Amino acid sequence: MASSSNTLFCFLALSIIALGANGQLSSTFYSTTCPNLQTIVRSAMARAVAQEARMGASILRLFFHDCFVNGCDGSILLDDTSTFTGEKNAGPNANSVRGFNVIDTIKSQVEASCPAKVSCADILALAARDGVNLLGGPTWTVLLGRRDAKTASQSAANNNLPGPSSSLQTLITMFGNKGLTAKDMTALSGAHTIGQARCTTFRSHIYSDTNINAAFAATRKQTCPQSGGDNNLAPIDVQTPTRFDNAYYQNLVGQRGLFHSDQELFNGGSQDSLVSTYSTSASTFISDFVNAMVKMGNISPLTGTNGEIRLNCRKIN
Ligand code: HEM
Repeated sequence: MASSSNTLFCFLALSIIALGANGQLSSTFYSTTCPNLQTIVRSAMARAVAQEARMGASILRLFFHDCFVNGCDGSILLDDTSTFTGEKNAGPNANSVRGFNVIDTIKSQVEASCPAKVSCADILALAARDGVNLLGGPTWTVLLGRRDAKTASQSAANNNLPGPSSSLQTLITMFGNKGLTAKDMTALSGAHTIGQARCTTFRSHIYSDTNINAAFAATRKQTCPQSGGDNNLAPIDVQTPTRFDNAYYQNLVGQRGLFHSDQELFNGGSQDSLVSTYSTSASTFISDFVNAMVKMGNISPLTGTNGEIRLNCRKIN
């Protein structure tokens, strides 16, 4: 009797470990089916970031835009076909999200090592984590076991992703719709400590808003004219654009946020004190960011027999 209840206990304990704390994803999901997965992703990301530091940022954003549109299911990676309109050309993504080739490269290396085992959604989650870490940010344990969507939705991409002119209330609501708190939203926005943005996304902020440092606005206007130059790039973090640090929040406190939406986090509203805290405590920011990244990675994953393990991230099997 005692030994059978011990056996039952062990079985339950192992099941809980295998399924992960939220009953779905698990840190050890591929430990027998693809033991080299994390090494493959890490080395490929190291090569990509060494070639172009911005790629760490681009992959992080790709993960955000995947998770916010019907969950972290690799749907953003699907190409449009003659019969299928996906997310890549939705308003917030077209001519904007990038890094698909890097994910393709990683996927082909993973397929060579462990065929048909690892989802594109999980590769993206790991690659985003490694991009952050390679640019000087934290690392963390990524929970795995997501499967890939067999469909994608352009309208969901248009409706679920916040834009650079969003108000604080809109940002809080849109993150709330995904089960993320205002604090998660403010911490995740710290991702804007890396990467670049096109003039068209911040023109109205630098020309029309008044809650912006005048010298900063003048600098940005030099390469972002009032008309034309829509695709001219500027660093989102004016201080250290390829370093994952808390400078983004220092910028906000100094009214050097690049987007209207960024500066909304420090404009006399509910997030001001958290922004101030992050601006002086990198460690508080980092621990809240990691916590929020894990939460974001848990948005509606496909698990079990739902979805599929895509063989090519750009198309369904
Ligand atoms: C809070 C709401 C957010 C808004 C309104 C927003 C908006 C934007 C916009 C407009 C761009 C520039 C796109 C372009 O010029 O083509 C951008 C870039 C970026 N965003 Fe966000 N974003 C938000 C939250 C996030 C979150 C939660 C993450 C990740 C956790 C993130 C990561 C990034 C990164 C890394 C870039 C630079 C990408 C690159 O250089 O390729 N953003 N964002």
